[in-house]
Amino acid sequence: MTWLVTGGAGYIGSHVVGAMQAAGHEVVVLDDLSSGVEARLAGVPLVVGSVLDQAGVERALRDHSVRGVVHLAGKKQVEESVRRPLHYYEQNVEGLRRLLDAITAAGVEHFVFSSSAAVYGAPDEEQVTEELFCRPVNPYGETKLIGEWMVAAVARATGLRYANLRYFNVAGAAVPTLADTGESNLVPMVFRRLSDRRPPLIFGDTYPTPDGTCVRDFVHVADIASAHVSAAQALTAGRVRDLTANIGTGQGVSVRDVVETIRSVTGTADESWSEPVVVGARAGDPPRVVASAERIRAELGWKAQHDVRDMVASAWEGWVAHSGR
Ligand SMILES: NC(=O)c1ccc[n+]([C@@H]2O[C@H](COP(=O)([O-])OP(=O)(O)OC[C@H]3O[C@@H](n4cnc5c(N)ncnc54)[C@H](O)[C@@H]3O)[C@@H](O)[C@H]2O)c1
Repeated sequence: MTWLVTGGAGYIGSHVVGAMQAAGHEVVVLDDLSSGVEARLAGVPLVVGSVLDQAGVERALRDHSVRGVVHLAGKKQVEESVRRPLHYYEQNVEGLRRLLDAITAAGVEHFVFSSSAAVYGAPDEEQVTEELFCRPVNPYGETKLIGEWMVAAVARATGLRYANLRYFNVAGAAVPTLADTGESNLVPMVFRRLSDRRPPLIFGDTYPTPDGTCVRDFVHVADIASAHVSAAQALTAGRVRDLTANIGTGQGVSVRDVVETIRSVTGTADESWSEPVVVGARAGDPPRVVASAERIRAELGWKAQHDVRDMVASAWEGWVAHSGR
């Protein structure tokens, strides 16, 4: 059967496309290339268009006899979502609403939605379970939570089978050409500073955590991709109908530890100029956000395979290949 991957030319989407193909699925990509890169999709059929173009999406679904959709298209930058909330509501909420309308009209049966740990906001928990009440603290997180609600509501009305997957902090690259070229996440942000021979920045070191810096759950993008394959297989086999699950490792790693791993992997650890500099904490950064990975293990049999060093090393290979450093 054929799967449509929206946002398949993006960082995570291109990994999902590769993993789905490797597992034997037919894949078609729909992407408006606003932040995606066509070169990531060697030979995969690409429909260039927006999920906001409902008629165009419906045509693509029918033309390719699509029975499952993985929806990753969207905007993902928290800080931008605070400045441009209506843009985020348009792209992430209205885009999904039209996509759901199109898939209902075209009779699509399976849906995987890329949600985010941002739905939880600033949880006061050692490990975040899916039962926790969601209180997003920025428009980005709000759009993801509304998205989950819409998917669940449509599923109740139409019988659509779905998996809402809440990614934690994604990093790394399965192959260098698919690396994250944006600089909004910690790992590429530190690469940029080190490439310019400037010290990495740490935002706040007086949090109530072991080393005072924020603690996060970093998950390798190849593991994220394999979780989508597991979800697609469980949906089509009828083992899962309505899953909402975290994708994380269950292990917390401090920002300082990640920065030190990056210094070591990039060979800059002995350079005094690469010592991290602590600056003020950013508004709205919670001290600790770490997944409970229990539900996804129980429901899909999925478990992360990569550690933080793998993640950083693979991301660095991609950074070097991309920047020609
Ligand atoms: N990167 C992370 O750490 C992270 C964490 C949690 C959730 N997510 C979610 O995962 C998804 C993919 O993120 P990413 O890191 O790969 O980002 P990305 O920007 O690399 O990928 C997004 C893709 O969607 C496409 N796109 C954007 N708006 C579109 C539209 N209206 N119609 C069609 N295509 C459109 C872009 O061109 C791009 O190819 C996003 O929905 C994001 O919110 C990412």
